Amino acid sequence: MITIKVKDLWKSYGKKDILKGISFEVNEGEIFSLLGPNGAGKTTTVKVLSCMISPSKGEVEVLGYKIPKECSNVRKIVGIVPQEFQGFSDLTVRDNIAYFSKLYGGNENQIDEIIEKLDLKNYEKVRYKNLSGGYKRRVAIAIALVGNPKIIYLDEPTVGLDPKSRRNIWEIMKDLKNKNLTVLLTTHYLDEAQKLSDKIAIVYDGKILRLTTPDGLMKEFEKSSLEEAYLALLETLGEQ
Ligand SMILES: Nc1ncnc2c1ncn2[C@@H]1O[C@H](COP(=O)(O)OP(=O)(O)O)[C@@H](O)[C@H]1O
Ligand SMILES: [Mg+2]
Repeated sequence: MITIKVKDLWKSYGKKDILKGISFEVNEGEIFSLLGPNGAGKTTTVKVLSCMISPSKGEVEVLGYKIPKECSNVRKIVGIVPQEFQGFSDLTVRDNIAYFSKLYGGNENQIDEIIEKLDLKNYEKVRYKNLSGGYKRRVAIAIALVGNPKIIYLDEPTVGLDPKSRRNIWEIMKDLKNKNLTVLLTTHYLDEAQKLSDKIAIVYDGKILRLTTPDGLMKEFEKSSLEEAYLALLETLGEQ
């Protein structure tokens, strides 16, 4: 089943085109990664897909709901971990999650479930400001899950984390996928994208250069890692 459908998506601010006709589809239970340099338009795409901003042009559908027309439905089924999420620093982990859970009409059971799912039991009484970067990310993911979303957007969820914490977040993403959630990921870590992604889109200057799989890009450029293949692709642009 197709969960995300984007067709010829444009986003402009004033006269500046940020997204210039992006198209892709994501199936249920897939991890789909948007890759590309800073400023390419990855976060802008995520913002449109989570109904934070409206598209300027194009067809965008999430589980059959049209954006922006049916955004009130979309907001109920998507969870978002923004690039620079900050929890309430003086609240404990549990109280942070509880706050958002209550906003969504969740109960104590749900809070316990999420704490369990993200392995936060030993940290539930720790105040947000005293957590490591890896655990702050976990809380952000926990909060994104409170509305029982079918789709979760993770915008650079592992940036700045130590290798062990990054791998822990990978396990969480795999776990979400195994529960049939659709995961849309943006990342600069190509090793991460190679390991996790079912499909990738290379975004560059508001356009999709390649819509493929990690293997597909590696084969195209005859490289043994996605990172090398990605760099080879960018190099071809320099030659134009
Ligand atoms: N509200 C805005 N007004 C004007 N320009 C914006 C706005 N938001 C983002 N941009 C611009 O859009 C481009 C793409 O940004 P973004 O989607 O955040 O890139 P990425 O996430 O790929 O690094 C950047 O040049 C950024 O400066
Ligand atoms: Mg971004």
